[in-house]
Amino acid sequence: MSQTLGKPSFSLFRGKETPVTGLDLNALIAAVDERVRSSQTERGRVMGTRAILVDALRREDFLLDCVECILVTMSRLLAGWANPPLHANLELDYAIRLLYWPPHYENNPHQHNSWTVTGVLHNQIRVTTYDLCPGASPVGLSVAKSFECAAGEVGSILSPCIHSVSNPTPSVSVTLHVFSGLAANSGVSEGDEESDPKRTVWYPSPLKGRFHRDVVPRALTANLAILSRITGRRSTALLEKVFDLGDTRIKLASVKALCGRDVASAACRLAQLSELCPEPDRSRLSDLSHKLASTVDGG
Ligand SMILES: [Fe+2]
Repeated sequence: MSQTLGKPSFSLFRGKETPVTGLDLNALIAAVDERVRSSQTERGRVMGTRAILVDALRREDFLLDCVECILVTMSRLLAGWANPPLHANLELDYAIRLLYWPPHYENNPHQHNSWTVTGVLHNQIRVTTYDLCPGASPVGLSVAKSFECAAGEVGSILSPCIHSVSNPTPSVSVTLHVFSGLAANSGVSEGDEESDPKRTVWYPSPLKGRFHRDVVPRALTANLAILSRITGRRSTALLEKVFDLGDTRIKLASVKALCGRDVASAACRLAQLSELCPEPDRSRLSDLSHKLASTVDGG
């Protein structure tokens, strides 16, 4: 496939734009639809979508919407869950996805040939952009710049742009992406996808194995971390949903998070967890659940 390349054009929002009004997930989707439909240029779509996402990431309800949407998809198909998009619009040729970045993971450089907007939901990522550099080892690229993006920050790509993304931390990071070029990159194109000019080009290949392995516990761990910093009944209900979906390690972490906000629920969940554990953990957790319950009863 022939490759075209301009200067790296990844840019990062650091709070200088005027936000639109508050949005939940459905309102964000409607706003992005409107922006993609009405903008005549890639730049217009990117700038509008970026402002929409900046505003959304400031809102706890939006974060809870994202977590809830993911948990709903897990509830339907936990064993084969492969992190489906939160939303996909074939007519407007874009999708919205959450990605859960393993600790210290870095993907290979790749050239986006259609625009994207990326926001950090949790923890942080590092973005590195590249210039084509014929003869450079190992894949003919040289680093142009590298920078960190923290939770709440939003970056965007005007195509074409070569970059890689990494999680430089020991904890899972979560990003939300609005990817255009859906048909060219998702296997749904009716034409020759390999020659589609919007198709992403990898240097040398996508590293899919580690990214897909253990995605369920990784996503649940990250969702738990997001919920743990948001108070309120809705967040607590989602914590209980994480407990239901998680393995014993996730369930124990969920109980710890519940202890700080709903002791009765934590005691009840701990009793459920104890039933799943062998001795001597079963008895120890059961005793602990009774002690927790007694503090609620005033005993
Ligand atoms: Fe990318």
